[in-house]
Amino acid sequence: MRRKLAAGNWKMNGLRANLTEVTALTTAHSAPGVDILLCPPATLLAPMAAAAEGTALAVGGQDCHAAAAGAHTGDVSASMLADAGASYVILGHSERRADHGEQNEDICAKAKAALAAGLTCVICVGESEAERDAAQTLDIIGEQLSGSIPDDLTAETLVVAYEPIWAIGTGRTPTLEQIGEVHDFIRARLQSRFGEATGAATRILYGGSVKPGNAAEIFAVPNVDGALVGGASLKATDFSAIISALEAAPQQG
Ligand code: 13P
Repeated sequence: MRRKLAAGNWKMNGLRANLTEVTALTTAHSAPGVDILLCPPATLLAPMAAAAEGTALAVGGQDCHAAAAGAHTGDVSASMLADAGASYVILGHSERRADHGEQNEDICAKAKAALAAGLTCVICVGESEAERDAAQTLDIIGEQLSGSIPDDLTAETLVVAYEPIWAIGTGRTPTLEQIGEVHDFIRARLQSRFGEATGAATRILYGGSVKPGNAAEIFAVPNVDGALVGGASLKATDFSAIISALEAAPQQG
């Protein structure tokens, strides 16, 4: 049975003053029925991990370098994330792919480094609007899955996040049928590559304009095991409502 996951990506938002949101969240969800994860900017990892100590909240990075250490000014390694208190790392977010030119093979190398540092990887895939209009969605996602995920990830160390680029920060979401089609496709690909059991046990999140108002219907779609939430994870009240919707959703898997 897959344990559901509500993950928040703060992107390049948040100062230490915003850690009050973390306290509000962990107070509201002291014994959650789902896993909860927040991925703040690197500067907030250690203080957020300290604020989350003794609670059910896990913290994660938003990216890591593929090398363990060395002359890479401005970059952060996977072991540095772990040392700061992270247990997860988001890799291959479309904003990294667009802003930093990250290719599938770069993400695969980063995932290997994350695995070596003991982190669970949240690997993001998703099509652009032009690719969806050209009916290339499943081809693109198939390529991203095979190119970005190393062979040695397991159901414990891999989470896949489906984030259609055109739904991120836009208030637009795919239809429930479109979400279901892509999640079923990802599940089938994971099972054919990693075996029935591992593929069935790996969590698949949906991301892109998830809000308190649409979370419940998205969480009822088969093979949706949770969400990767951007804007609505910044405020404890909104993220808390999404966590509650996930707790109330039908069990998947
Ligand atoms: P929004 O929830 O703000 O659309 O962002 C989604 C996202 O990119 C999470 O990684």
